Amino acid sequence: MHRAQEDSTGLAIDPARWHIDPVRTSTWLPVALGLAAAIASGACGNPAGQSIDGATIFSANCAVCHGEHGKPTEAMVARIAVRDLTAPEFRKRVTPALVETQVRAGSQNHLMPSFVTVLKDDQIHAVAAFVASPAFLAPALK
Ligand code: HEC
Repeated sequence: MHRAQEDSTGLAIDPARWHIDPVRTSTWLPVALGLAAAIASGACGNPAGQSIDGATIFSANCAVCHGEHGKPTEAMVARIAVRDLTAPEFRKRVTPALVETQVRAGSQNHLMPSFVTVLKDDQIHAVAAFVASPAFLAPALK
């Protein structure tokens, strides 16, 4: 009998939904669970609480998809085409306004959610300034 994969939380995940070879389960399962966690945290509020520290907000709200230091895992790129926020192409054009627009609106394909109901205005300003700043590329400063 075919059974959907089930993790320790009892969350059923149907491999067919993810269009990926089941052989690679070890690669995508953590990604799927990370996404589930991201969605759950979006629904339940911002895990960074009231913090207005950009790095803290990034770590709590963005790192699950974009990677702790802005470089997503290959699995996450394959899965949702998440952008590498450390890529030279992005660093050349990044501004706080660009990041703020993205964080407010989410992506048009909805793979990145809008954070307007999760983050307050000052938190959106803080994370946008952080992502656009040189400090973002210097993990030692985090
Ligand atoms: C659920 C996964 C997910 C989360 C969480 C997430 N993003 Fe994204 N992000 C994406 C995806 C997917 C894209 C690419 C969207 C597209 O192709 O239009 C993206 C794109 C971006 C871009 C645009 C990059 C470019 O090339 O212009 C920025 C900036 C960005 N995200 C910042 C953030 C910030 C800051 C946070 C946290 C507040 C965040 N993201 C949280 C998935 C996510």
